[in-house]
Amino acid sequence: MAVELLNQAHENKTLPERSVSLIVLLTDGEANKGESNPAKIQENVKKAIQGKYTLYSLGFGTSVDYPFLEKLALENSGIARRIYEDSDAELQLQGFYNEIANPTLINIDMQYPENAIADLTKNNFKHYFDGSEIVVAGRVTDNDLNSFIVDVKADGADKSMKYTENIQLQDQDDVTEQQKYIFGRFTERLWAYLTIQQLLEKRLYADPSEKANLTAQALELSLKFKFVTPLTSMVVTKPEEKDKEEETLIADKLVEGQSTYNQPKPQRQFISHSPPRQASPVSYQPPTFVDSDPHFVINVPEKNDALCFNIQEEPGVILNLIEDKQLGIAVNAELIGNKHIDNVISNETYFGRIGIVNRAMKIRIEVTTEKIIVLNNKNKKKFSWQKTGSISSEGFNLVVNKRRNVTFSFGEGATFVILLHEVWKGHPLHRDFLGFYTMDDHTFSDGVHGLLGQFFHGVNYEITEVHKTDDPDKPDATMKLKNNLLTVTRGEQRDYRKNLKNGDKIPCWFVHFNGKGLIDGTHTDYIVSDIFSISD
Ligand SMILES: *[C@@H]1O[C@H](CO)[C@@H](O)[C@H](O)[C@H]1NC(C)=O
Ligand SMILES: *[C@@H]1O[C@H](CO)[C@@H](O)[C@H](O)[C@H]1NC(C)=O
Ligand SMILES: *[C@@H]1O[C@H](CO)[C@@H](O)[C@H](O)[C@H]1NC(C)=O
Ligand SMILES: *[C@@H]1O[C@H](CO)[C@@H](O)[C@H](O)[C@H]1NC(C)=O
Repeated sequence: MAVELLNQAHENKTLPERSVSLIVLLTDGEANKGESNPAKIQENVKKAIQGKYTLYSLGFGTSVDYPFLEKLALENSGIARRIYEDSDAELQLQGFYNEIANPTLINIDMQYPENAIADLTKNNFKHYFDGSEIVVAGRVTDNDLNSFIVDVKADGADKSMKYTENIQLQDQDDVTEQQKYIFGRFTERLWAYLTIQQLLEKRLYADPSEKANLTAQALELSLKFKFVTPLTSMVVTKPEEKDKEEETLIADKLVEGQSTYNQPKPQRQFISHSPPRQASPVSYQPPTFVDSDPHFVINVPEKNDALCFNIQEEPGVILNLIEDKQLGIAVNAELIGNKHIDNVISNETYFGRIGIVNRAMKIRIEVTTEKIIVLNNKNKKKFSWQKTGSISSEGFNLVVNKRRNVTFSFGEGATFVILLHEVWKGHPLHRDFLGFYTMDDHTFSDGVHGLLGQFFHGVNYEITEVHKTDDPDKPDATMKLKNNLLTVTRGEQRDYRKNLKNGDKIPCWFVHFNGKGLIDGTHTDYIVSDIFSISD
């Protein structure tokens, strides 16, 4: 009936052409007559409104089906509110009315340059109400960008407006620098908050086929940015019981239905005390290393540059990283996969276990994400990642830095570091994993081999024909190497030694197809049967 009234008023021109029509549905959830099937109501309302008017739902008291009211409102560009039957119910109603009483603009659209900005939150809005604010957040993908243009369009009461804003990034940086928020990167967190909220809203009226994916995305972001949402719950461990800095967020089971939605909207609760970090420019030589899912990075000091490649293999596969038969040293690493979640297909693999053999010193070291075991002859020594510790004997040194890294050195000139990447306890998708870094490789023999080892004595290549691709940050080029001509792509990887959380960016030439053409043979030649494998 409300829609019909508005339709007629527009037809009769009793309403000005440029006006905003809103419908506010008030209900206590009790239906005495008419349609009572929620799915049918939803369908009827959508069909009647046809996107022309905005619907707000106000639910009175506790017996309303609030998830349904919210779904109904969101699907028709509005929002839902619950009005509690308390003494201040009048104030709650007035508050709501004040929020929507003065629509000043409609059809607000903010356009950002597509090639420079990614992961934008919602950037077009049906209404702008006086006294409210609109926030759009996104990521600047081009680090060298000094400014960008945003085009804003909207319709006002008597005319349309359009303006262009030139955003200077330098100024913005200075501002955020001055306003260090208690939990670090405020803008990034605001972006995550908006994105999570929009995913959760979309999920309310999404197809069942899309729903799982939206849920998974929202959950992943909630966990990554430590937001308490209807998908997560917060567990705070007391400092005296646990490690001082330890706080844990665990994921709840994803329960559909009333109970989850009855909770307050996603809130900005944050529970970490780490100080804000500052980006540090890369001004050092990267080492040769392998980290993340696994990205191999080969430092080429002669060219002041780096090469990189990925290896895509199955969990359980063990890869040889270094083998020096002459020195009797080998390093092998075993791949692990992500945890299994329904509807999330993930092929990512990481290193979960690394074995180091030094035949001459009769030492075998096994590093997992839980512990470090050193076998020397028949002696076994075990270290936990939870404690700092060290051993040192006859040229062999090992230092465990609690929950961060373990350093090994075999005499002068063979030093490795393994980093521990800890994800949140109870992370739905990721497991803890390891990164392997070669800090000093100068004692290795000329015959040293393996996915990393074969590059210890340098690699000779020529880069020519650098040319643009669709992504301005990632030009392609031709690389001439050992009589092969390869198409390579400019990319970047991250060195996590100084900044375990975010890493420092290492620009590199990326060699496609599991390093084909760069590594000797094919990547499957490096699969070994045991983490302590070393050929005679
Ligand atoms: C629109 O005009 C019709 C016919 O003149 C009239 O019956 C109706 O009441 C009018 N409706 C409104 C909302 O003004
Ligand atoms: C959701 O779906 C998109 C596209 O189908 C996919 O790229 C993305 O990885 C999925 N995300 C999750 C968390 O499942
Ligand atoms: C995962 O790997 C399989 C086999 O290598 C491949 O067929 C599939 O396309 C991959 N899936 C994704 C999402 O990358
Ligand atoms: C290892 O951890 C210690 C202690 O946190 C840190 O000072 C050192 O820089 C780390 N070394 C590497 C190579 O990551």
